[in-house]
Amino acid sequence: MKKNTFCYLLTYLFLQLSIGQNNLAVNTDAGKVKISRNIYGHFAEHLGHCIYGGFYVGDTSSIPNTNGVRNDIIDALKKLKIPNLRWPGGCFADTYHWKDGIGPKDKRPAMVNKWWGGVTEDNSFGTHDFLNMCELLGAEPYLSGNVGSGTVQELADWVQYTNFKGKSPMSDLRTQNGRTAPWKVKLWGIGNEAWGCGGNMKPEYYADEYRKYATFISDWENTGGLMRIASGASDADYNWTETLMKNIPLGMLGGVAMHHYSVLDWNKKGSATDFSEDQYFHIMKQALLMDELVTKHAAIMDKYDPKQKIALVVDEWGGWYDVEKGTNPGFLYQQNTIRDAMIAGVTLNIFNNHADRVRVANLAQCVNVLQAVILTNKEKMILTPTYYVMEMYNVHQDATLLPLTLTVNDYILNGEKLPAVSASASKDSLGIIHISLVNIDPLQSQKISIVLKGETKKNLSGRILTSKKLQDYNSFTEPEKIKPAAFNTASIDKNVLTVTLPPMAVVVLTIK
Ligand code: AHR
Repeated sequence: MKKNTFCYLLTYLFLQLSIGQNNLAVNTDAGKVKISRNIYGHFAEHLGHCIYGGFYVGDTSSIPNTNGVRNDIIDALKKLKIPNLRWPGGCFADTYHWKDGIGPKDKRPAMVNKWWGGVTEDNSFGTHDFLNMCELLGAEPYLSGNVGSGTVQELADWVQYTNFKGKSPMSDLRTQNGRTAPWKVKLWGIGNEAWGCGGNMKPEYYADEYRKYATFISDWENTGGLMRIASGASDADYNWTETLMKNIPLGMLGGVAMHHYSVLDWNKKGSATDFSEDQYFHIMKQALLMDELVTKHAAIMDKYDPKQKIALVVDEWGGWYDVEKGTNPGFLYQQNTIRDAMIAGVTLNIFNNHADRVRVANLAQCVNVLQAVILTNKEKMILTPTYYVMEMYNVHQDATLLPLTLTVNDYILNGEKLPAVSASASKDSLGIIHISLVNIDPLQSQKISIVLKGETKKNLSGRILTSKKLQDYNSFTEPEKIKPAAFNTASIDKNVLTVTLPPMAVVVLTIK
């Protein structure tokens, strides 16, 4: 045999072995933990065209709107079952003085948006606009308080303004501004990225600041319990989480945050649409790192809070690339490809599988910024591949997590490996099982045998999101290039399902 033929045969045999069958066992009667709907949360910062020119066009716009908020965006997010929306930042939050954003719009003072492009912020979108918008969306508001450049009194007043039912200086002001009933805001962030744009604090100092702020933020009897969330670590800064858990009494904490972005290199992020397979691989590596980060931050929290009362709140996550050519570098506007659908699919599977600790999460960001679910261009609006993943996965919201074991093939590039398949499963209140599966391999299909332990079901259906090329995206000229389709090729025999996932695909199965 010629040397070349021998090498070819060896490679072929190796490939056959490495692309064998994947196995998944789902324990259908062993679920104990609820997947909080709030891990499907979103984030809207005063950044670029997220609020202005995104959500908010003003009530004199020719674009159909309700009190200035685009109706098409409201409808799209309602279909997504958006559970919560974080606002007004991000870095912007620690520069924001909420009293500048209430009262008659023409009397509101302007400010400069220090972090995002140095543009003038006219404060025309403020507390009432945001909280009323959340009511339209049916979403829980998550307000980020200003610790970096604000005061304890200012934040305590904001809580009283939004939540106090009786007569008080702040509730009187609220009524004067047109709103009598309190909004009952439960989720409160005490600063953002306090280690960086939120004040460059050391964790010990921030822990003390947190204790002070938390002391003066009252529940005002009508929310059923405020959730006070500490500004958390960046990525693998485990010392930050450890210091907070050690120094803040558990009774003062509702959640500890953590941020992780999938980025190639902060100085050379690369294009959102024009990227190599090597760049794709490294972004997927970053996305999958979320599992390790969540596991390790949760293990630290377990030491101080073994009963898991405190939530790990991943209130910023997503892919971060170079801005689109010709757009303001401070506006973080990027396109969204099937690569982003892969990030969303694997990340949400990780959150589902860590539902015991991860109980709030927020994709960064909702409209026109970073890994957006919606992009707008004047009167036009498009839904991104990430939107569709969030929509397909919303079946997991508030369902019971089903424990699973997964043995999978590797996706190999240049000698490096990543697990090709990711999965999570849940059972909803009607007993319907949903399994979400992702194949990140851009070239190989993955055959999976799924055993449903403890249950025999008959009816199987599914939906798939995929495309021909990793770099494919929805544009204003081709808005529906990527959208979910029925997935009819899976089969079920008693309690065994056989599924073949095409390359770069997200599939959600429904089993009744
Ligand atoms: O989401 C964009 C920015 O990323 C946020 O303002 C900040 O919190 C993070 O660094």
